[in-house]
Amino acid sequence: MGFWKRTLKEYNLYGKQVLVRADYNVPIDETGTITDDYRITQSLPTIQYLLEQACSVVIVSHLGRPKDKHDQKYSLEPVAKRLAERFNREVKFAHDSVGDDAKQKVGQLQPGDILLLENLRFHKEEEANDDNFAKQLAQHGEVFVQDGFGVVHRAHASTDAITKHIPSVAGLLLEREAGTIVDAMAEPDRPLMTIIGGAKVSDKIDVLRRFVEHADVVAIGGAMANVFLQARGISTGNSKASQEDLPLAREIIEVATRRSQESDFVFYLPQDAVVASEITPRAKTRIVDWGSHVFADIEAYPNKPDRTAVEMGDKDMILDIGPYSGAFIAGAMQLCKTVIWNGAMGVTEVKSLQGPVGPFSHGTETIVQACGGAFGNQPHSIVGGGDTVGYLESTDALDHFSHVSTGGGASLELMAGNRMPGIESLWDKE
Ligand code: 3PG
Repeated sequence: MGFWKRTLKEYNLYGKQVLVRADYNVPIDETGTITDDYRITQSLPTIQYLLEQACSVVIVSHLGRPKDKHDQKYSLEPVAKRLAERFNREVKFAHDSVGDDAKQKVGQLQPGDILLLENLRFHKEEEANDDNFAKQLAQHGEVFVQDGFGVVHRAHASTDAITKHIPSVAGLLLEREAGTIVDAMAEPDRPLMTIIGGAKVSDKIDVLRRFVEHADVVAIGGAMANVFLQARGISTGNSKASQEDLPLAREIIEVATRRSQESDFVFYLPQDAVVASEITPRAKTRIVDWGSHVFADIEAYPNKPDRTAVEMGDKDMILDIGPYSGAFIAGAMQLCKTVIWNGAMGVTEVKSLQGPVGPFSHGTETIVQACGGAFGNQPHSIVGGGDTVGYLESTDALDHFSHVSTGGGASLELMAGNRMPGIESLWDKE
């Protein structure tokens, strides 16, 4: 099927002033250092292409969800510096996205110049999809290129209203992201497996509903699995679990059970977990296996340990899927041709005191290895989600995957078949 909107390669841009919407919503620490620049590196081909077309390039983006106008924590200035390093050329910066300073800097641009404007969300009109604000933004270019895939599920001034004021086409990143995801959903090479982790069922309910009807295997991990376990009557101790999500979990289990009875569909919830009573690198961890089916009593193999030894204590928290669950998921991946993954299996932010893998990252790491072909089969793999992609960056594992999406929420919305205002509003192909 491919991408269905007009792209920058299907529009004569030569020598024009081009306004690009990027998604530079990147993590920046308290010293102003960008800690994960995947979104920046993925935006470079579009800018490079425009420079080759002798364009001058004005870039707009949001960063975070600022409450105070001009809260410097949300300034895009560090991004301008990182872009300058990546291109090894000057990248100008304006301290506002509209108004006199921005207009003046835009007016002085020459072919080959790059200018980044300050955070769009310093103006509440951006998220309000305000037409007048969009009109002011549109004056910064002769053509608008939408390349902020991570934000095209929002109807904001820079994704929606702006397209009424200026010819609007897609950038290379948007084309690649949307084309890859739509193709994988429409005609996946089957069996199709989806692995969904992360915090809350309600955040991912649309995509869960779609996959539980559409995929051949659905595996759940991360904190959201806790609610599913509770719905199955399994005690989860002191684990994070949003009680309000219980009805949604029950709904998904009901559909999954029906499908499993009618077809070869597999719905997998973790059968064991890594638990601890604190979330620190020094936490004392143990494996709880509520199926009591993996571990034999070490002293008296093959007897199994007493059931109480494998139950959750009141203070225990589930912080990762256990080794049996990791092995089951990796095993299922050996039989699948396509794997779509969103959300870590455990608390990957906790770093290891020794060795490369953190105490609650082993489940996530098993999936990374399986996607990289470590156990034989290498499925076509699509991964998304801020925490997961951050983990892959930090462990140098991006190349294990066929496609690593820059959009967490956007990729889920697209997979769920929901409206994507920032794509719909672009020009159709001729
Ligand atoms: C993201 O990080 O998912 C995008 O940049 C969108 O950000 P938002 O959820 O704050 O709109």
